[in-house]
Amino acid sequence: METATPRTHWSSRWAFILVTAGSAIGLGNIWKFPYMTGTNGGSAFVLVYLLCISCIGVPLLMAETMLGRRGQANPVGTMRRLIAEAGASRAWIAIGFIGILGALIILSFYSVVAGWILEYAARSFAGFASLTREQASANFSALLADPLRLISWHTAFMLLTGWVVASGVTSGIERANKIMMPALFAIIVLLIIYGIVAADMGAALRFMFHFDLGAVRREVVLSAMGHAFFTLSLGMGAIMAYGSYLDRETSITRTAFYVALADTGIALMAGLAIFAIVFAHGLEPASGPGLILQTLPLAFGQMPGGIVVGPLFFILVIFAAWTSSISLMEPFCSFLIERFGLSRRAAVVSMGFAAWLLGIAVALSFNEWSGVKILGLGIFDLLDTLTTKIMMPLAGLLIALFVGWVMHRR
Ligand code: PHE
Repeated sequence: METATPRTHWSSRWAFILVTAGSAIGLGNIWKFPYMTGTNGGSAFVLVYLLCISCIGVPLLMAETMLGRRGQANPVGTMRRLIAEAGASRAWIAIGFIGILGALIILSFYSVVAGWILEYAARSFAGFASLTREQASANFSALLADPLRLISWHTAFMLLTGWVVASGVTSGIERANKIMMPALFAIIVLLIIYGIVAADMGAALRFMFHFDLGAVRREVVLSAMGHAFFTLSLGMGAIMAYGSYLDRETSITRTAFYVALADTGIALMAGLAIFAIVFAHGLEPASGPGLILQTLPLAFGQMPGGIVVGPLFFILVIFAAWTSSISLMEPFCSFLIERFGLSRRAAVVSMGFAAWLLGIAVALSFNEWSGVKILGLGIFDLLDTLTTKIMMPLAGLLIALFVGWVMHRR
């Protein structure tokens, strides 16, 4: 059984909002949201995404925080405790396991994509002056074709993540979030201003907000719903793990509302900034996962002060990704610590190593193993689909049922 040590708690309510927002805001907002909006036809995707965030995302965010706070343990331990309390079927433990396993899988590809950003951060110091759109696309393809470079950056990012998680909860995670999140917000505002002044913000607004119900297809609905889970970190034990460090006084409703608002705001703003550049340069909105890396360097190359704004932007995105990856590692690690008595460092090494190995397969799926297809999908697409379109909605549904009908009222 889990050991019943008293848990450390966040230093204040704001600290909890900050770390939860830190988990929610990440590559999902800045990398994934824009490219998925692009590949799913723009406004139709945005519309369903907004509906899913408000009708499914926010309530689930509350439910998951509540589970964590009541259980006061890692996701599996939390479920075990609440099941015992309610005298419910042991099968509900699935919520905990889907969470920690899903988080491991997401971490594997998350770290590879964060590696792309590290590479671009390094490049941005030299600036992107006189870059053409053809070169921008070619640069990105060249990166994908280079397994060694992908794996090195992936390794670096995994080490960064493991280092913070190994150093403990409140000290490492909390401190990092306080400065970087507001700074990221400020720089996205700057990009929006650039989009208004020097790119095509009108076209971006039309693309994202000219709602046309007829364009909403089934595939778009599934993608948008999956993304709502992904961007709010739902169903993967992350929120549950963070909620377990939350004290009894904090209002969960208000917290969930703030977090969702900040998360959605950042995503919409990042989308607008990127599509303004896409349309100003006649780029293809549906170009896929490389979208931000094929567009933003063009803007940084042309805007005044781009040599400063570029590196700053990429560094802040790395930070946002980092605070999310920490929350992807924490649930499995706290499970290993509390269930098997591992030291925090040993837990981080085992979990990190597993995710790192899987990440290597992801990195290779862009080059050497690009021919490997499972169920018609490449490795990266397979892991993304498995987590965002299957595991997260399933965990979400189970959490809703458990909290609504099974859990004991107090
Ligand atoms: N929400 C994070 C993002 O948008 C990703 C994430 C998913 C983090 C699931 C934790 C759990 O980047």
